[in-house]
Amino acid sequence: MKELFFITSNTGKVQEATEKLRPLGFSVVQKNLGYPEVQADSLEEVAIWGVSHVQERFRRAFILEDAGLFIDDLQGFPGVYSKYVFFTIGLGGILQLLEGVEKRGAVFRSVYAYSEPGKKPLLIIGECKGIISMRKQGTHGFGYDPIFIPDGAKKTFGDMSVEEKNQFSHRGKALEKLATVLKDFQ
Ligand code: IMP
Repeated sequence: MKELFFITSNTGKVQEATEKLRPLGFSVVQKNLGYPEVQADSLEEVAIWGVSHVQERFRRAFILEDAGLFIDDLQGFPGVYSKYVFFTIGLGGILQLLEGVEKRGAVFRSVYAYSEPGKKPLLIIGECKGIISMRKQGTHGFGYDPIFIPDGAKKTFGDMSVEEKNQFSHRGKALEKLATVLKDFQ
C-alpha cells in the first residue's frame, strides 16, 4: 500500500477517499494541518493557495481538496462560499431561497490538488450534476448532502452510504482520475 497524505479536517472526505483509493493500492492518511481558505473566485485558486501554504510546513507528497455547490437558479451561489453559507444560513436557508422555484438544478464541483515537493501541483476536477431537493432527507454524509439528489438517483446523498455516494459524486469522479494520474507519478 502506498501512503497518501490528505490535508483536511473533514473526516467525511477522508472516508470517501479511503473507500475509493484503497482498492487501487493507496492508504489515505489524514493530516489535519489547517490552512487558510482565501476569498477567491474559483475553487482552483483556493486549492493552489492551500498547497503553497502547506508546502511551507510539510515536505512530503500530499493531496488537498476544495469543493462547492453551485446552484443554477442562484447564479452559482453558494459556490466558493459554500462553507461559510453552510455554517451561516445552512440548509434551511438554501431551501428558503429556493422556495417556489421549480428548476432546481445544481452542480457539485471538486478540485483536488496533488503536490510533490519541488513540483508544480497537479489539479484534478470532478463534477456531479443534480437537483436541490424540496426538503432535507437522510442522515449520512456531511454538508449539503441531505438536500442534493444527483442525476440518475432518486434519493439525496444524505440517504446514501459512502460507497453509493462515491459512484455519483464529484469527489468520487475526481478521485478516480487522481488514482490514474498517481500511478504514473509514484
Ligand atoms: P470545503 O471543500 O471543505 O471548503 O467545502 C465547502 C463546503 O461545501 C462545505 O461546507 C462542505 O460541507 C460542502 N461540501 C463539499 N463537498 C460536499 C459534499 O460532497 N457533500 C455535501 N457538502 C459538501
